[in-house]
Amino acid sequence: MAILINNANEVLTMESDIKLPRRREQMSELGLKTEVSVLIEGDRIAMIAPLDEIKQEYPHLVGSAEVIDARGKIVMPGLVDCHTHLVHGGTREHELNMRLAGRSYMDIMNEGGGIHYTTTKTREASFDGLYNKTVQHLNEFLRHGVTTVEAKSGYGLDLENEIKQLYVVKKLQEEHAVDIVSTFMGAHAVPKEYKGNEDEFVKIIIEQMIPKVAELGLAEFNDVFCEKGVFTPEQSRLILEAGKAYGLTPKIHADEIEPYEGAELAAEVGAISAEHLLVASDEGIAAMAKAGTIAVLLPGTAFFLRAPYARGRLMVDSGVPVAISTDFNPGSSPTISLPFIQNLACMNMGMTMEEVLCATTINAAHAIKRADEVGTLEKGKQADVLILDVPNYKQLQYFYGMNHTDTVIKAGDVVVKGGSLL
Ligand code: NIG
Ligand code: FE
Repeated sequence: MAILINNANEVLTMESDIKLPRRREQMSELGLKTEVSVLIEGDRIAMIAPLDEIKQEYPHLVGSAEVIDARGKIVMPGLVDCHTHLVHGGTREHELNMRLAGRSYMDIMNEGGGIHYTTTKTREASFDGLYNKTVQHLNEFLRHGVTTVEAKSGYGLDLENEIKQLYVVKKLQEEHAVDIVSTFMGAHAVPKEYKGNEDEFVKIIIEQMIPKVAELGLAEFNDVFCEKGVFTPEQSRLILEAGKAYGLTPKIHADEIEPYEGAELAAEVGAISAEHLLVASDEGIAAMAKAGTIAVLLPGTAFFLRAPYARGRLMVDSGVPVAISTDFNPGSSPTISLPFIQNLACMNMGMTMEEVLCATTINAAHAIKRADEVGTLEKGKQADVLILDVPNYKQLQYFYGMNHTDTVIKAGDVVVKGGSLL
């Protein structure tokens, strides 16, 4: 099956000669083309060129293709959400008035709420219950133009329930249109039963959970919540090194609530990314720029926790490759709207309209090792293509808080049309 998209006002290919995570002015390269069509063959991009040239090159394909008229609209790659806590039981709206009254996120967690509450709900949930809830979330991601997501475990916090979460991801990798990249995050919190005995839990993660997850092939990445009162930098280092020995690439929740030299640790252990970084130090940012660590910034979390935003502008200017994501989770960022997260990144982290597009496509793809397949529109890459109902890309950040997604093509299949899931 072939699809031909004609008449788009703008096609943002996001293509560039730079094949590494993009830094500084490289982040503004949109590969913007006008008066071109996009030809998709099977699940791949076949050609992006003026229609005449495509007709010459692929006469038969053009003759049989389903034609989509994108007049007045723009075309760009499917969005990549490279940091989510996708699979979880329950919701936590009851915490909101507590936080609005001044109770802190960490206090609520230390009193047994927060991540502990969601852990209880996730442990109680059946496999099918979790699976069905997650399908709804993935459908919403698609409607918002997100075609690839990373998913972290970390609400089981024991072997059986971590594996349950990871198997939900595995089944969805086989069955849902959205591509899902799996991260093990057994080190998301110390479960209540190990309070006061934290090193024992670290030992279980290292000696039991990581080997089992690796043996079953259930994750590619290993993440740790390195935070005062959760896991220390020393414990985080041990957990990340243990994961490396089993082929799991390190990621870190770093410097989210209090400065804790998480960015520095990310650079030191060779993490592919450090995430959050709301209160990362100047030294940490410099270390990340030197090591090439990707900063995954999550402005929805700053918004929802009413916390200071990460210094995105400074990071880009310092040469750190920056990606942006929702952090979708039931506690600190219950949103699926990556388009709104782009708006927040512009308004509150000083990133430009061009940079946020790079940060939610190709740089996000780099943060989960998928840059060869997705994140740009290029011949031979997977055909994850959006048609957005705006006449130019600048309106994506101008008409904020809205979902402009009209059509989503996932691996060559139309899955969203006129804003609705098919
Ligand atoms: O990325 N910081 C730790 N983890 C999540 C929040 C998890 C939760 O509150 O349920 C985050 O902010
Ligand atoms: Fe997170």
